[in-house]
Amino acid sequence: MRGRFDSRPLLWLVLALPGIWILGRWAATPDTYGYGHAIGDSGDWSAWLLMVTLAVTPVRLLFRRAGWAKWLMRRRRDLGVASFAYAAGHTAIYLWRKGSLDTVLSELSTDYILVGWLAFALFVPLAVTSNDVSMRALKQSWKTLHRLVYPAAILVFLHWVWSAFDPTTAWIHIGILAAIEIVRVAIQVRQRVT
Ligand code: HEM
Repeated sequence: MRGRFDSRPLLWLVLALPGIWILGRWAATPDTYGYGHAIGDSGDWSAWLLMVTLAVTPVRLLFRRAGWAKWLMRRRRDLGVASFAYAAGHTAIYLWRKGSLDTVLSELSTDYILVGWLAFALFVPLAVTSNDVSMRALKQSWKTLHRLVYPAAILVFLHWVWSAFDPTTAWIHIGILAAIEIVRVAIQVRQRVT
């Protein structure tokens, strides 16, 4: 995937499209597409991009020779930062809706809100250090720090299950994520043995 399609600005344009769609629909049809849809869709996109980010390593291990798998590996940090950007937008929509610090603080007693904040808190150091300068500065600790993505993912899915009226969709996504992780661990264990 070298050349014209290997452009970072193009990738970011594609990653921004769901956000533009959410804001555009909200602005154009506020009566039918309001806060409820915007908070749900922004949360979904953040969670989907997180799953794609976590799927990159197993995909790379499965398709070693494929150029597109190498490309995904090179762009893994961008995908993670995009997941964070949707989480930040999602949180901003929530803060805008609540409108006061008192309300925001009082809702911390709601389990799924507290878990959402904890997930977001773990996302921040990951997003801030997803660049070459931090990778070079942190050396081996970079990898250790970025293992925080796993507890963050668990918190995100707990947040999704607890926030949903019908958690079936959330459980389906948890199943997919579990399958991704099982594949990753299985390949890594096999490679260590052989
Ligand atoms: C890493 C950070 C986060 C991610 C990835 C995330 C993701 C999600 C997902 C996937 C949903 C379910 C959407 C659906 O039902 O289709 C959701 C719902 C929601 N989240 Fe988050 N979230 C995060 C953090 C937060 C934070 C910090 C808050 C606010 C404090 C928050 C507030 C909400 C609310 C209010 C809902 C809607 C619940 C409802 O349907 O009534 N989230 N989030």
